[in-house]
Amino acid sequence: MKSVQAFFSWPFRLKYKIETREEQMDTKIINDHSIEEAIQLLQAGQVVAFPTETVYGIGANALDEHAVAKIFTAKGRPSDNPLNVLVPNTKALYYLAKNVPTYVEKLMEVFSPGPITYVLQSAGKVAENVTANLSTIGVRIPNHPVALNILHQTGLALAAPSANLSGRPSPTAVDHVIHDLMGKVSAIVDGGSTNVGLESTVVDCTGEVPTILRSGFITVEDIRRVVGACNLAPSIQMPSNKYKHYQPEVPLILARTEGQFQDIVRKKKAAGNRIGVIISLSFDDINVEKIFSLGTDEVETARNLYDVLRAIKKSEVDVVISAPFPSDIVMDRLASAATKIV
Ligand code: TXA
Ligand code: MG
Repeated sequence: MKSVQAFFSWPFRLKYKIETREEQMDTKIINDHSIEEAIQLLQAGQVVAFPTETVYGIGANALDEHAVAKIFTAKGRPSDNPLNVLVPNTKALYYLAKNVPTYVEKLMEVFSPGPITYVLQSAGKVAENVTANLSTIGVRIPNHPVALNILHQTGLALAAPSANLSGRPSPTAVDHVIHDLMGKVSAIVDGGSTNVGLESTVVDCTGEVPTILRSGFITVEDIRRVVGACNLAPSIQMPSNKYKHYQPEVPLILARTEGQFQDIVRKKKAAGNRIGVIISLSFDDINVEKIFSLGTDEVETARNLYDVLRAIKKSEVDVVISAPFPSDIVMDRLASAATKIV
C-alpha cells in the first residue's frame, strides 16, 4: 500500500515543485511612500511593477539584458514585440537615441513629461532584447510622481511595458497588477488608480514628419498644432498589432451603431446566451444578465474601460456586447479587444 502511494505521489510532487520553482517568487507589495526597497531591487537587476499616469508599468534596467528578459518571462510577451523605455528627463532620452529630429524637441516641450512615447533611432545603449533587435527605440518621460521618483533615485532607464499578462487589458489599478503578476515579479508598488487609464500615444519620429503608431490622449490634431504635420499610420505598422489585446474572459462583440447593438443583443438573447453589455449609463429597460457602465465623457470612459474588461466573468455571462462610443481612442481599444465587430 505504501509503495503504491509513493508511486503515484512522487511524480506529482516533482511536477509541482518544478512548476513552483519556475513560476513563483516572493512578491512584495510596497507602499508608494517607501520605495527604497523598490529602488534596491531594480538596481540589483530585479523586476518591479509601479504606477505611471497612463497604466501600471513592469520595469527593469533597460541596459541589463538579463533583467529585461525577466519582463518578457513575467508577462509571457513574445520576444519580437519591443518594450518602451521610461526615462526621467530629456537628457536621458538624448543618451538613448540618436539623430533626434528638431520637431521632437518641440513636442517634448509641450507634451513631456506625459503620455507620449517617441520612437527614435536607437543609439545602441539599451540591451538588444529591449528593442527586439530593431534599430529604433521607444522612449517616454512619464508624468507620475512615483514613476519619476523611481527613475531619479535608481538613476536607471527602465524598460517598462504595461504590467499585465500579454493579451490581457492594461492594469489601471494595483489589484489588476496583483491579479496578473503576483509571484512573477519581485515587487509591486501600490500607487492607487492611474489617472489617464489608457496607454501613451506612440509616435514614430524617425521620418521627416511624425507618424502616430498607437492612438492615445495626445491626438494627431494636438501634434499638428505644435509641429505642423503629423501622419496616422495604418495600424498594421505597429510591431504589437499582430497580437490580440485586452481580451476579456468571454467573446466581445463590438457594435458600430446603436441599431446594430440592439439587434445583436436581441439575437444573442434569443439564442439563449447570458449577456453582458458595455454601455455609457445603466438604464432600466434592457433585459440582460450584466450591465457594465463606462460613463459619459471621454476621460471617464477611458479611465473605466480596462477595469470593466477585467470585470467580465465567464461564470456570469457567455458573451459581452459593446455599444458604440463617441471616443475614437476608446473605440480603438474596444476594437482590439473584440472577437467580432458588427
Ligand atoms: O503608457 C504606456 O506607454 C505604458 C506605460 C507603462 O509606460 N506602457 C505600455 O507599454 O503601454 P506596452 O509595451 O504595452 O506598449 C508599448 C508599445 C508596444 O505596442 C510596442 O510594440 C511599441 O510600444 N513599441 C515599443 N518600441 C517600439 C519601436 N522601437 N518601434 C515601434 N513600436 C514600438
Ligand atoms: Mg501593453
